[in-house]
Amino acid sequence: MNDLDPDACEEAAAAIGAIAAPGDVTDPAAVARIVGAAAQAGGRLDVLVNNAGITRDAPLHRMSDEDWRSVHEVVLFGAFYVCRAALPLLRGPRQIPPARHRKVVNVSSSVALHGAPGTANYTAAKAGLIGLTKSLAREWARHRINVNAVAPGLIEGTRLTAQKPAALIERVRSQIPLGRAGTPEDVAAAVALPLLRRRRLRDRPGPRAERRPRRAGLRRSRRELLLHAAQNLPAATRLAR
Ligand SMILES: NC(=O)c1ccc[n+]([C@@H]2O[C@H](COP(=O)([O-])OP(=O)(O)OC[C@H]3O[C@@H](n4cnc5c(N)ncnc54)[C@H](O)[C@@H]3O)[C@@H](O)[C@H]2O)c1
Repeated sequence: MNDLDPDACEEAAAAIGAIAAPGDVTDPAAVARIVGAAAQAGGRLDVLVNNAGITRDAPLHRMSDEDWRSVHEVVLFGAFYVCRAALPLLRGPRQIPPARHRKVVNVSSSVALHGAPGTANYTAAKAGLIGLTKSLAREWARHRINVNAVAPGLIEGTRLTAQKPAALIERVRSQIPLGRAGTPEDVAAAVALPLLRRRRLRDRPGPRAERRPRRAGLRRSRRELLLHAAQNLPAATRLAR
């Protein structure tokens, strides 16, 4: 597990029994060390989640070069450096193809899809991350690596959100049809979704499957399977572990 903040990194890694590899994802040399630590610990990488992100909000006419650059460096360059360095570990030895697809999940943002005032730097970088995801998905399919992105809306209870003015948070929350912001657990469940194995999902009867003969259930489209997983998130999350 990586984070820029060594204490937060150690604490989070200890909580899930992972090794801590603190470091700055905007520094390719640090990224090489982080990926090297993962290689030493496990010798292979099954799942990579690019989650590092910062915001430097300002209206565009008052946005400094540094505000623009720093957000792109963490969100877009960081993901690029990590993906590039991690490919050999994700791909594994050429002579031993992985038993199942390896996974990359990039954490984008819903503002990348619809924009938000005062966040041009963050929105552009997160939209770039979606572009990176789409191209890598096509480029790495031949290596049996799936690349996906999730785009959360407002998430409360994180350091990033805590930096925002309370009035802004309230305004955004008031526009959410569900009437509440998301939680880090909601995002964790969404990140886990692309990690699910299709066959395991097919085996799980959903509301539609109960009404259909089993053969028809096996022919369900991927979209239906994902919808089914979304309706059964706790079970789906358990499966992904
Ligand atoms: N909070 C929200 O409302 C929200 C909404 C959509 C997407 N996101 C995205 O979710 C992800 C997690 O954000 P969060 O809300 O949990 O905020 P957070 O600040 O708690 O987490 C972001 C983490 O990124 C780390 N980080 C920052 N720069 C780094 C660097 N150079 N190298 C390594 N690590 C670095 C920080 O130390 C921090 O722990 C981010 O990518 C964020 O953009 C958040």
